[in-house]
Amino acid sequence: MSATARKTAPLPDDIRAMKGGTPIVSLTAYTTPMAQMMDAQCDFVLVGDSVGMVLHGLPSTLGVTMEMMVMHGQAVARGVRSAMMVIDMPFGSYEEGPAQAFRNAAHLMRETGAGAVKLEGGVAMAETIAFLVARGIPVMAHVGLTPQSVNTLGGYTVQGRGAAGAALMADAQAVAQAGAFAVVLEKVPQGLADEITGAVPIPTIGIGASAGCDGQILVVDDMLGLFTAFKAKFVKRYAELGITGEAAIAAYAEDVRARRFPGPEHVFADAAP
Ligand code: KIV
Repeated sequence: MSATARKTAPLPDDIRAMKGGTPIVSLTAYTTPMAQMMDAQCDFVLVGDSVGMVLHGLPSTLGVTMEMMVMHGQAVARGVRSAMMVIDMPFGSYEEGPAQAFRNAAHLMRETGAGAVKLEGGVAMAETIAFLVARGIPVMAHVGLTPQSVNTLGGYTVQGRGAAGAALMADAQAVAQAGAFAVVLEKVPQGLADEITGAVPIPTIGIGASAGCDGQILVVDDMLGLFTAFKAKFVKRYAELGITGEAAIAAYAEDVRARRFPGPEHVFADAAP
């Protein structure tokens, strides 16, 4: 069923069942108003750890904490009704092992009401994914460019070109085998993304991957033109709200300095009308 026709949020199994059908639509969200704006259009919204860079001005996602994810998850939960909410596990909250991952995933779901968690990693995370799924925690996996590993990957570069493609295919197959209900493919060459989409039984959600993926995700502030520190090649700007916002703020500043604001319609009479 399309997101616009739906009244209640899909479950992870519903997202899984969208494999090969109408492409799955998703965006990141970090606040209530933004979540409300996208709720009717998205199949799922992701409370991404990109919140650290996008809203908090951090240089990478590595500084994002569980507390930040809980706070933004709670805000997004107040804005979604018909989209499923997935929440990112922040760096350091799951890599130690399955028990740590379970504890933190359960905390995120309990505190925010998210329907699933997302974590980064392929073969290395398969055991953890299986552990979580077996204990009632739906997992979305994330392979290819995994920003939490930027320091070992050596930058935000395209992943899986040439001989590295086989390892990336193995990552996607491992997370599917472990029970993930979907997998994000980030910054993966188009041909490889299409091959992975054909090879795994779960939906692939592309970001910098291929229109042939089972769905797409973008960081909402990127596609609205609100995050302007840099623009990745895979971002399509559907609006330039940063430019519009700057112009609005400049107009406000001019009005205040010229005493044009507040106008008569914005102030209160001495006596009640
Ligand atoms: O944190 C995030 O925004 C993400 C998406 C880019 C997939 O993980």
